[in-house]
Amino acid sequence: MSLANSPAIALPSESALILGATQGIGLGFVKHLLQQPNISRIFATYRTAEAAGELLELQTANPDRLICTVLDITDESKIAALIQTIQINTQCLHWVVNCVGVLHEGTLQPEKSLSQLDPERLMRYFQVNSIGAVLLAKHLVPLLRHGDRSIFATISAKVGSIGDNQLGGWYGYRASKAALNMFMKTAAIEYGRKSPNTIIALLHPGTTNTRLSQPFQKNVPPEKLFSTERTVAQLWTVLNGLEPTHSGQFFSWDGTELPW
Ligand SMILES: NC(=O)c1ccc[n+]([C@@H]2O[C@H](COP(=O)([O-])OP(=O)(O)OC[C@H]3O[C@@H](n4cnc5c(N)ncnc54)[C@H](OP(=O)(O)O)[C@@H]3O)[C@@H](O)[C@H]2O)c1
Repeated sequence: MSLANSPAIALPSESALILGATQGIGLGFVKHLLQQPNISRIFATYRTAEAAGELLELQTANPDRLICTVLDITDESKIAALIQTIQINTQCLHWVVNCVGVLHEGTLQPEKSLSQLDPERLMRYFQVNSIGAVLLAKHLVPLLRHGDRSIFATISAKVGSIGDNQLGGWYGYRASKAALNMFMKTAAIEYGRKSPNTIIALLHPGTTNTRLSQPFQKNVPPEKLFSTERTVAQLWTVLNGLEPTHSGQFFSWDGTELPW
């Protein structure tokens, strides 16, 4: 039978939300999803237009598929406003990938020793890396609770694994990722009751060539430094393989489970 004469098979139409989409892994996800024909609508967040040039160009080129919205994840009222904006356009999300994270930012630098600990800087790590994600979990329930499978993934980091910590240092970043893991594991249990088709996952992307890792790449062998394209393709494979029993687990880029 000639495929040209057969009726077109309608692919399911799915919606996605990518947070922290201005650069690095988040921008990589937006580009990747624009290549997926079953993803009809992509919502993407940025903090400032100045930092979002490439993302906003993608929106101009894809006005029917890509909707970009301002979000600072440390402001809960902005998270609520984001959800309202999405609800004007769609009743449900199938994919949420939270790529927001901070390791260094101005004078905020990962600590090498206890003597460098500063309460305000520690708070900043928790606000961006941990609390923002669990507030998303709080506000996303109505959009993720529906009859289809939905995935809510947050990019964590292997250095947030307590069991894997051999080197020390990076107190604030490590602890904020460990807190993130606990927040999302706990949210997964509650979602299991309130939104049983939602799978919550924590992902370690592997060392990826982005602004975040740039100052720390010196000792990383080239084969262990992934491009954003490679990282996103690997994480997309992991996400597509998730089943309901995986909700609340912490996965590495190759699909192996990581210790807490
Ligand atoms: N790259 C790696 O090797 C690596 C390894 C392990 C884990 N990770 C994790 O992967 C995730 C993505 O990192 P990346 O490497 O892609 O970093 P990146 O290139 O620095 O991107 C971080 C993203 O987060 C956004 N962001 C930061 N603070 C925010 C805030 N307060 N509110 C809203 N958005 C904010 C940034 O927006 P602006 O452009 O406005 O700053 C940017 O879009 C992070 O959670 C990171 O911890 C990365």
